[in-house]
Amino acid sequence: MRFVVTGANRGIGLEFVKQLTARGEDVDATARAPEGAPELQTLARPGVRLRIHRLDVADDASVAAFAEQLPSGPVDVLINNAGVSGVKGGELIDPADILRVFNVNAVGTLRVVRALLPRLREGKGRKIADITSQLGSIAEASGGRYAYRLSKVALNMATRLLAEDLRGEGFRTVALHPGWVRTRMGGTAAPVPPEQSIRGMLRLIDGLTAEQSGRTFDFQGREIPW
Ligand SMILES: NC(=O)c1ccc[n+]([C@@H]2O[C@H](COP(=O)([O-])OP(=O)(O)OC[C@H]3O[C@@H](n4cnc5c(N)ncnc54)[C@H](OP(=O)(O)O)[C@@H]3O)[C@@H](O)[C@H]2O)c1
Repeated sequence: MRFVVTGANRGIGLEFVKQLTARGEDVDATARAPEGAPELQTLARPGVRLRIHRLDVADDASVAAFAEQLPSGPVDVLINNAGVSGVKGGELIDPADILRVFNVNAVGTLRVVRALLPRLREGKGRKIADITSQLGSIAEASGGRYAYRLSKVALNMATRLLAEDLRGEGFRTVALHPGWVRTRMGGTAAPVPPEQSIRGMLRLIDGLTAEQSGRTFDFQGREIPW
């Protein structure tokens, strides 16, 4: 199977690439600055099917260039992982921050889907996994973090729309909450190590059913209410 993973130079994206390449998958990994991604570069050892590409999901031209330069052939699974958290603390409502985060987390994901859809249609896998957050649940909202929460609500809706619109073509699309994970975004107090989170999410992606398509699950398989 051939996977594309965005935001793969650190954190959750990097761990996806580690586990996927370790089990022998074919992986196209992206980073905004591949030259500053030593851990990702280290994974690209001889015999490992890993290609590294430059991609800024917030930039139309970057997404177009990425799609054009991606080596030919079908893509089976797209993991939309790239994301930003927005300013923590500060003003309660910061419109500029809301738009910036929205552009990466929600619009950025859709930019990549749009650009790669022809390649995904060539594939047999036909899976899209959007890395969302429990903080995007309206049902479980506790206040604060406007930019991040709004962006993930929109991402969840995008996941649902794609699931409905592509269902007839055999696509399965899911939003996955990785847990509170020890990364630069999650911080050192986070209880879940990346290895455990990604193992759980890959189990879900591997076994994804048409019935699960368009829904949101955490890395342990618990469904998250909208
Ligand atoms: N960690 C958690 O507890 C947690 C919980 C819930 C959801 N998530 C979600 O999980 C995903 C990964 O988060 P993480 O914890 O691994 O965070 P992280 O360590 O901050 O990594 C974020 C990744 O996204 C990339 N990125 C940011 N803006 C981008 C852009 N415009 N274009 C392309 N790539 C971009 C970063 O690249 P640069 O290095 O170039 O900035 C980096 O590779 C995010 O979608 C996040 O919302 C994380």
